[in-house]
Amino acid sequence: MDDQNNPDYGHLPVINMAPLFSSDGSAARKDVARQIEKACRASGFFYVTGHGVPTSVLTAMDQASRQFFSLAEEQKMEVSMSRGGIAWRGFFPVGGELTSGRPDIKEGLYFGSDLADDHPRVTAAWPLHGANLWPRQIPGLRPAVDTYMATTVKAAHRLIEGIAMALGLEADYFDNTYTAEPTVLFRIFHYPANHPLTEEQSWGVGEHTDYGLLTLLAQDANGGLQVKTPNGWIDAPPVEGALVCNIGDMLDRLTGGWFRSTPHRVRNTAGKDRLSFPLFFDPDFAAEICPLPEYSGHSNRQKEADGSGRWDHADLQAFEGTYGDYLLGKVSKVFPELGDKVLQAD
Ligand code: OGA
Ligand code: NI
Repeated sequence: MDDQNNPDYGHLPVINMAPLFSSDGSAARKDVARQIEKACRASGFFYVTGHGVPTSVLTAMDQASRQFFSLAEEQKMEVSMSRGGIAWRGFFPVGGELTSGRPDIKEGLYFGSDLADDHPRVTAAWPLHGANLWPRQIPGLRPAVDTYMATTVKAAHRLIEGIAMALGLEADYFDNTYTAEPTVLFRIFHYPANHPLTEEQSWGVGEHTDYGLLTLLAQDANGGLQVKTPNGWIDAPPVEGALVCNIGDMLDRLTGGWFRSTPHRVRNTAGKDRLSFPLFFDPDFAAEICPLPEYSGHSNRQKEADGSGRWDHADLQAFEGTYGDYLLGKVSKVFPELGDKVLQAD
């Protein structure tokens, strides 16, 4: 899609992050950091190229995902989320996830860091930790997802260095604090074509912000993602070869709103089946997220300090506890049954 077809495209910058893959203090790296700063101070959404995720992997994942979602419902349910238990993995059907209390018009597959049964966090029954579930009918899915996740997580580690520099911190700040062992969640979403809209169900995914540090999202050619900017809702159309990057609530909390987690939503109006592939690169589950003293007291967040200005009325500054606590609080709202399971396991 070019600028002419979409006048809003110009609002979301495209940043070539390739210089972040070199570890010197080069001018090119600093320039990327400046571009990130500008984007995060504006909408908190931008595109990245030079991310190192091969197109062939995306193509393989797209194909395998379409095959999976075309299976009969009972075949998909063989890897249903209830099988994944408290690890929060597997398939959920259309309407199975609630955003802002309403069922979304999407089905999906949930993955995360694939941990063996003898991993200490798994033996200790930490929620959201465990092994991925793989559909037996689609053998091509696993290698594609494994490679996609590995390459995207590498890009996220580099990008968070750019974010650290954009905040005037040492490049390795996050890797020394919150992301040495990041929480990584990955999802494949299918937004079905021409699903009837009702009052209850009108969005593929309703207005929300993401929970953690960074989201890196690949989307197919169908469009439908929208971002709330100071000037109103704009489209974030697919850009060939680019991933969408947006920042989450924990960066907003760390910086007292200097960098904002920006509300976004999806409606599939393309008349075709839309696929998207968001990967969430978040702080260590066990980490307490302490606001950066350098960013306390600036005026950006103050008028919203009580949360009245946020979509969910949350006050990110008041929250206490670990990232895991925050995440579980969110997850139990979007998947109430999982929240109940985690509570029972306690
Ligand atoms: C999300 C999200 C957008 C999309 O999963 O948090 O905003 O295009 N997804 O699927
Ligand atoms: Ni999101």
